[in-house]
Amino acid sequence: MAKKIPTRLYLDEEEIPKSWYNLRSDMVSKPDPILHPGTLKSATAADLEAVFCKECVKQELDETNRLIPIPEGLQEFYRAYRPAPLIRAYFLEKALGTPAEIYYKHEGTNTSGSHKLNSAAAQAFYAKAEGLTSLTTETGAGQWGSAMAMACAYYGLDLTVYMVKVSSEQKPYRKALIETYGANLIPSPSNTTESGRKILEQNPNTGGSLGCAISEAIETSVKTDKCRYVLGSVLNHVLLHQSIIGQEARAALEKYGVTPDIIIGCAGGGSNLGGLIAPFMGDKIKGKSKTRFIAVEPASCPSFTRGRYAYDFGDTAKTTPLLRMYTLGSGFMPSANHAGGLRYHGMNPILSKLYKDGYLEARSAVQTDVFDAAVKFAKIEGILPAPESSHAIKAAIDEALECKRTGEKKVILFGLTGTGYFDMSAYMSYNAKTMSDSIPTDADLEKGFASIPEIPQNK
Ligand SMILES: Cc1ncc(COP(=O)(O)O)c(C=O)c1O
Repeated sequence: MAKKIPTRLYLDEEEIPKSWYNLRSDMVSKPDPILHPGTLKSATAADLEAVFCKECVKQELDETNRLIPIPEGLQEFYRAYRPAPLIRAYFLEKALGTPAEIYYKHEGTNTSGSHKLNSAAAQAFYAKAEGLTSLTTETGAGQWGSAMAMACAYYGLDLTVYMVKVSSEQKPYRKALIETYGANLIPSPSNTTESGRKILEQNPNTGGSLGCAISEAIETSVKTDKCRYVLGSVLNHVLLHQSIIGQEARAALEKYGVTPDIIIGCAGGGSNLGGLIAPFMGDKIKGKSKTRFIAVEPASCPSFTRGRYAYDFGDTAKTTPLLRMYTLGSGFMPSANHAGGLRYHGMNPILSKLYKDGYLEARSAVQTDVFDAAVKFAKIEGILPAPESSHAIKAAIDEALECKRTGEKKVILFGLTGTGYFDMSAYMSYNAKTMSDSIPTDADLEKGFASIPEIPQNK
């Protein structure tokens, strides 16, 4: 007889995965290689090691090893906040009157507030092991900066965080949290770097973007001794670290004989979505399942649904290696009225390839609809979700209501990537009904596309 499914599908501590799962090893058609921006040849480990930690570079370029061991010193850190709960949304199912089963993997229970800590801890661990003394990074909504600050405090590394200016103004407490963990926080664009000064000359009133903040963080890291740059999304090694989310979710569901029909994740640069779906997507690629995968992005920054599949830079100053991905162009600036994260112009190359090849679906949502879903979820399930995560909640509710219409009893799993405690100014504007939606026009998008490099590979 099938086991009764509890509200919390716990795993024991010893069931936390000891290796990450490298989805690329099982992909028949691999993502295109990363290119050196000068030579336009495949980037080598030596090229990337000028900017990133060695071990992360090795993982970035690894297309063959299926399982990558998680070092013991990192497993120890993971045990402080994992396994993350997998929750059956009984209350939500009842409130919607749906025959669907809804589950969510709650990554917001650690103090930094989101899934970002899974990769932050890994990157800080490797930096320390390689003898580095400091790191630089960028943060948009602040979740990644908080996670990195927490990880650097634990492993004893200095950290400089370039925070997108508009977010640092909207979220003073996020800033305070990052500083409490000992990081040096600089609103971006700033006049502490050449790239920041250039952006400010061109556009003195800009609220900043992740692309600008990345340029500043990279510039500072290459000019500082024993320092490297760390990125919280988009790159393949970040998705690899996040595969722990999907591995735990699958292990917990398997205990109860549950197989998801639909898996949903919000998509900024793709790290939580890539991590959540990784083992399930591996099954689909091998023909063992028919699970549907849905990426949900903001209508104000629609990389998958309106972007181009092209080689592009990761930053505004065009200094990074080139990634083949769905992109709005590194010059794209999302509207300042967009409250949550998910403001990045590009999308991880693995997910981009899976979307191009038809394994992954994508849709967009406007922020007022996303906040409708967030508030509904908060009232019914009791958890205050991050605006980013609420994109996934919206799609999960829509799919559950579709099941109600058709009478199908599907199993829906979504990623609840973080909590919204530091997003109260966005909730306040939603409550006051002053929140508005902004959808870029085709002409707005063309301006961003004009910044995509005109190289032979893009012809
Ligand atoms: C809570 C939360 N969820 C999701 C995301 C989106 O990032 P990614 O697509 O890398 O998971 C962010 C990014 O800032 C975030 O803070």
